[in-house]
Amino acid sequence: MTPGHVSGTSPTEFERRRGLAEGAEPARDILEIYLSISWENEPEYGNCFKSERNTWLSQYADSTSEAGIMVLHCSRLLLSKPLQRPWFPAFIRLNSTTAQVSSGKVQIGERTYEADEMTNVTPKILSHLGRNLHLQKYHPLNHISQRISKFMYSRYLSPRGNPLFSIHDRLQPVVTPHQNFDSLLIPKDHVSRKKSDNYYINKDFLLRAHTSAHQSELISMGFDNFLVMGDVYRRDEIDASHYPVFHQVEGVRLTTKSELFGSHQNMDDFQLFENTERSETQQGVHNLEAVKLLEADLKGCLEGLAMTLFGKDAEMRWVDAYFPFTHPSWELEVKLNDDWVELLGCGVIEQEILVNAGVIDKVGWAFGLGLERWAMKLYGIPDIRLFWSSDSGFLSQFKFEDSSKNIRYKNVSQYPQCVNDISFWLPGDGAYEPSDFYDLVRNIGGSTVEQVTLIDNFTHPKKKMTSHCYRIVYRHMERTLTQEEVNVIHKEIEKTAAESLNVVIR
Ligand code: PHE
Repeated sequence: MTPGHVSGTSPTEFERRRGLAEGAEPARDILEIYLSISWENEPEYGNCFKSERNTWLSQYADSTSEAGIMVLHCSRLLLSKPLQRPWFPAFIRLNSTTAQVSSGKVQIGERTYEADEMTNVTPKILSHLGRNLHLQKYHPLNHISQRISKFMYSRYLSPRGNPLFSIHDRLQPVVTPHQNFDSLLIPKDHVSRKKSDNYYINKDFLLRAHTSAHQSELISMGFDNFLVMGDVYRRDEIDASHYPVFHQVEGVRLTTKSELFGSHQNMDDFQLFENTERSETQQGVHNLEAVKLLEADLKGCLEGLAMTLFGKDAEMRWVDAYFPFTHPSWELEVKLNDDWVELLGCGVIEQEILVNAGVIDKVGWAFGLGLERWAMKLYGIPDIRLFWSSDSGFLSQFKFEDSSKNIRYKNVSQYPQCVNDISFWLPGDGAYEPSDFYDLVRNIGGSTVEQVTLIDNFTHPKKKMTSHCYRIVYRHMERTLTQEEVNVIHKEIEKTAAESLNVVIR
């Protein structure tokens, strides 16, 4: 990551932002962007940015810092004040996707698409591209996707003991109607193609409506066992359980005759294919015994996966389903708090899809599941919009290393946060432990403290002294805290820390 390098943005947008940074009269402007700002080679810029953030960004964005990279998540960055310092464009780096729709063009990253009568993506929707919540460390969707990968890795091993499944979690969400529909045998007049249900960039491209859009291309590339994870887009209302962008995991497994039946002396007794009638239980080209083995493998795998996450005793049931790309097809439901909840769709892949992708000697199964649904049920998250929150009250509850940990989400307060930092020199005797400070803050601040994080750890090269800076987020569950009362608590924390931990407040 090189500071000074700006990528993924159109020249005009870059120019416009540079104009702002150099102090030109700022336009009142809303940019829908997602930024990743690197300060690893320029630590002092990181600090500049932190102080800037509080003055002009705090309402619209939140930042998390990790390994020298400051990632600033913002879907709406309102630039209504001139940026004070010319350093800003010097190290800002548009990590992922900038997108905009204007004057007959849709700009996504480096590519420009001509708008046409099918175009219905909006800047708001495009601002979700590149957020990749499923890849964000400690995000609940990341924890769940890791648990799924781990389960699949351990369930399917090669004879040498290596995991068979490959994981594709960074595929671009911009796909063609061929990928999203035709390659999956979805008829030309099928309702799921409607403009009212999808986000079309133009008639030739859309934002994928499901991760199944990548099945056929990955199969033709030669992958036999794979997972696809990513953001999917569907036009929908916004309420507690619907959001137009969510995340899916797709699983595909293809098997040869000997993998399915095992090696026997007389392999001619076993067949994958047969010319029969298509019926409720099988496709016309499949041998019934092969289908039953596939079904058992598929259902065993998915029941195992659901039990790993929802517990060994979770009550489950299979329901017959229909998808144009699998037959037979099923949905798995699990009983949670007396309600049957649909967890996933799956089935035996239509042989025509495999043949079109160049595979003639294998049969296979596929499944697709929605990560948000799993996460909401597993952690008790009440509203799907929370996944997009950059509020530390939400994210901090998932800040644990072991993804298999089960926690219950506690609703965060609706009242605003007050953020105060505290910096001090540590005692020279090495006796200081951050956990002592955390306890002290809890003792004094009680339930007014939502979160404490070490945001800076610095050792003076000459003085050989170490300084820590902690950010304390104050927020009450039942009322608005005033800055004055927070200051009183904060002062008390400073005073007690100096006395009992031997630190020197800076
Ligand atoms: N793509 C389907 C959906 O989004 C799920 C699915 C995937 C069903 C694979 C069967 C096989 O609803």
